Amino acid sequence: MRIKGPARVRGSLKLPGDKSISHRIAMLASIASGLSRVTGFASSADCQATLDCIRKLGIRVEDSGSGLVIHGEGLFGYHPTESPESPKAIVQLNAGNSGSTMRMLSGLLAGQRFTSEITGDESLRRRPMARIIEPLSLMGARIDATEASFAPLTIHGRKLRAISYASPVASAQVKSCVLFAGLLADGRTVFSEPAPSRDHTELMLREFGTPVDGSSPGTLSIEAKHELTPLDYQVPGDVSSAAFFIAAASILPDSELMLRGVGLNPTRTAFLDVLGDLGASLRTQNHREPHSELVGDIVVSSAQLRSERRGTLLSGATIPNIIDEIPILAVVATQVEGRVEVRDAKELRIKESDRIQTVAGGIRSLGGEIEEFEDGFAITGPQRLTGGRVETRGDHRIAMAFAIAALIAEGTTEIIDAECATVSFPEFYESLTMLTGPDTVEPVP
Ligand code: S3P
Repeated sequence: MRIKGPARVRGSLKLPGDKSISHRIAMLASIASGLSRVTGFASSADCQATLDCIRKLGIRVEDSGSGLVIHGEGLFGYHPTESPESPKAIVQLNAGNSGSTMRMLSGLLAGQRFTSEITGDESLRRRPMARIIEPLSLMGARIDATEASFAPLTIHGRKLRAISYASPVASAQVKSCVLFAGLLADGRTVFSEPAPSRDHTELMLREFGTPVDGSSPGTLSIEAKHELTPLDYQVPGDVSSAAFFIAAASILPDSELMLRGVGLNPTRTAFLDVLGDLGASLRTQNHREPHSELVGDIVVSSAQLRSERRGTLLSGATIPNIIDEIPILAVVATQVEGRVEVRDAKELRIKESDRIQTVAGGIRSLGGEIEEFEDGFAITGPQRLTGGRVETRGDHRIAMAFAIAALIAEGTTEIIDAECATVSFPEFYESLTMLTGPDTVEPVP
C-alpha cells in the first residue's frame, strides 16, 4: 500500500467488533447449553479462525445476516466433525495468526474427551506456549509441543483437576485459558497474575451465569462444571482498532473525528488516558453498559501534544493495559514535544512480530529517531518524518500504525505487506480513505 502525506482525518466511523470480546463470546457460546445470538462479531481474520475452530469441533454457527447464531452444546459437547468413524482421529485445528485462539481454546480442549492438534501460521508457531502448557499440565492435561514449547500443540483431552495458579506473566490469554480449563475441572480453580490484565473473560463468564469470585484482590476463582446459560450479546466496537484513528486525529492538524459505539472497558482504555495526559483533545460520551462492558462514543480533534518536563514514563502495571496500542503510541510519540519512554514491555518482543524491533525499524525508515531497549524504547519529539518503505513483518498493528505515521510524513510511504491489517481490521484502508480523502491511500499493483 502507498500512503501519501501530509493529510488530515475528518468524519465519523463505526469500528468493527472488538476482537478480544469476539473470541470469548464465540468460545463461551460454543460450550453454553443452547443457542446464543451475537451481533457485531469482529470481522477480523483472527476471530474468523476461532469460528472455524469451533465449527470443526462440531458446533453449528450460522450467520443469520443480522448476526451469528451459535448452537452451544454444553461444557463437554464438542464432537469433532473430522473422521468421526475413526475413534483415534485427531481433530486438526488452525488458529492462523491468532495467539488468543490458540491459547484460550487450549483451555477448553484440555478437558475434552478427545485429542486435538492446533497449529498456526509461521508467526504463531514461533510464539511461546509454555505459559499455557505449564498450568494445563498441572491440571492433568497432556500436551505435546516442539522442544521449545512452540505449536503445533497436540492436546490429549483428560479429566482435569482444579489448581491454584500464580501466573508469572500478566496475560489475559493465560488467565482465560486457565479459567476455561477450570470450568471443566473437578474443584475450584484459583488464578492470580502479577498485574491486572483485561477482564473481559471474568465479566463475560458472569453474564453466562458462571460464578467467578474476584473478592480477594488480584485473585480470581471459578466454580467448575457450572452449565453456561446461553445469551444474546452485542459486541462493541474495538477500542484497539479505534486507537489508530484516535492517534491520527490527535497528531494531524485540522482533524476531527467521532467514533461511535466503542468498547470503553477501563482495562483497555489506558491509551486514552495516556493521550489525555499528553494534552489530547479527547472526550467520551453517550455511555452505556450492556453485558457489564462500558461502551460509548469517542470525540477527538487535533491538539498540541506535550510530555511533562521530565518526560513521560510508561511502565509497570500500565503496560498490560496499553500493550496492543504501543506501536501506535510510538508513532504518536514522534509528534509529542518532549520524551516518551516505554519500559517493562518485554512482552512486545513475542507478539505477532518483535514489536520493539519492528517499531524501531519503521520509525527509522521514515527518518525518525528512537532509542531501543531490551524492554522498551524512548522517543523524543517532535520529529519531522519523511516518506519511506516500512517493513511490517506481517504484523497487523505495525502496518496500521505506520499507515498513520505515513499521514504525518512528507512524501509517499510504502507499507510492505499492508494487507496483514485484515488480521484485526479488514476495513482499515477503506476507513482510512473515507476519513482522509480519495488521494491518500493507493494499493500497490
Ligand atoms: C488479548 C490479550 C493480550 C493482547 C492480545 C489480545 C486477549 O495478549 O496482546 O492482542 O484478548 O486476551 P496477552 O494475553 O498475551 O498479553
